[in-house]
Amino acid sequence: TTGAVTYDPGFVNTAATSSAITYIDGDKGILRYRGYPIEELAEHSSFLEVSYLLIYGNLPTPAELDAFDQRIRRHTMLHEDLKGFFGGFPRDAHPMPVLSSAVSALSTFYQDSLDPFDDEQVEMATIRLMAKMPVIAAYAYKKSIGQPMLYPDNSMNLVENYLRLSFGLPAEPYELDPVVVKALDLLLILHADHEQNCSTSTVRLVGSANANMFASVSAGINALFGPLHGGANEAVLNMLRQIQDSGEPVEKFVERVKNKEDGVKLMGFGHRVYKNYDPRAKIVKATAHEILEKLGGNDELLEIAMRLEEVALTDEYFISRKLYPNVDFYTGLIYKAMGFPEKMFTVLFAIGRLPGWIAQWREMMKDPETKIGRPRQLYTGEPERMYPSR
Ligand code: SDX
Repeated sequence: TTGAVTYDPGFVNTAATSSAITYIDGDKGILRYRGYPIEELAEHSSFLEVSYLLIYGNLPTPAELDAFDQRIRRHTMLHEDLKGFFGGFPRDAHPMPVLSSAVSALSTFYQDSLDPFDDEQVEMATIRLMAKMPVIAAYAYKKSIGQPMLYPDNSMNLVENYLRLSFGLPAEPYELDPVVVKALDLLLILHADHEQNCSTSTVRLVGSANANMFASVSAGINALFGPLHGGANEAVLNMLRQIQDSGEPVEKFVERVKNKEDGVKLMGFGHRVYKNYDPRAKIVKATAHEILEKLGGNDELLEIAMRLEEVALTDEYFISRKLYPNVDFYTGLIYKAMGFPEKMFTVLFAIGRLPGWIAQWREMMKDPETKIGRPRQLYTGEPERMYPSR
């Protein structure tokens, strides 16, 4: 028993680490951040408040939240030399490698935020990452469409600024759409942490060498880019469009998945931990219709997604393998309706996951017991053999 939860002994041996941040029960479809159910946070909280909760362990008082928000606003500006960085990439570069490179480069600009055991430096790294990563993400997007990069506007909070830096133009004022702000805030809450997923484990493993926070998060961004992980939301939209373009009924596509034709998978379905409906997917699905209606999203693709889900959830192939929609199944449709191109979807996942990465890195630095450290292996190679004498 670890305080709040009792595990069976078999599970304890499989656990790579312990953590007090996020709890998942894959069979019951439970997800809690610092004990708070995701459903309650999705309904009542904000991305900034959830970020504070994950990083500092408790919900902030209004004064604490305001101070956190103000500290982030004051650190959104990028060093002008870092802005030059974007010019070094090909125009059609995918924004994820741009993001991981620029985040890693932050460690060269902020030498006063590198020591993982100096509380003040860890705090500066936390605020700088929370403030600057969304700006870097927006600049990567602007670079890819050949538009000028705006300066952040400190009268806006993290989410509002990110939207303005992504879609605003110097030639005209940018009008925030409250529907988009609320929808993005919700999606970022849902992505904020997810215990030891691939990218978070990567952040911990790199950090376990006492690598600085920027370098560790940069590694996490690269892991998230994998199509089986964060890249899935982009892959879902490609899949839905492929079905739409084929004009075939979804049942035909499902048959190809079941026959494993050229390894095709039902992207946005299945999960390493959830063997039940991903609670985040439930929340997104419930709001998808409402948001798409307001944003004028592509309803046909949503209909295809809903039909795919309907067919898969009644098909023995998926039921027997406990394959349910995961968080990525519906999110891409909403990002698209907000105006983001598909190659920005995983970047949005990274912005959401950032407070979780930071919280888990900080937890590990404070409690070496939770370092994943150096995994061992079973050797399956050749027995000892001597170099041939010639
Ligand atoms: C995320 O870990 C996290 O918490 C991640 C995440 C987070 O918040 O950080 O939740 C975010 O990464 C969500 C997952 C996004 N990825 C996708 O949607 C890609 C499609 N999903 C699959 O690649 C797969 O479901 C995984 C990798 C997500 C999970 O794989 P599992 O559960 O370990 O299952 P498996 O690979 O061992 O496969 C079991 C069986 C196999 O069939 P059989 O060999 O038994 O015949 O299920 C099949 C697989 O072929 N299968 C699928 C499938 N996923 C598994 N078949 C069709 N479509 C799928 N999506």
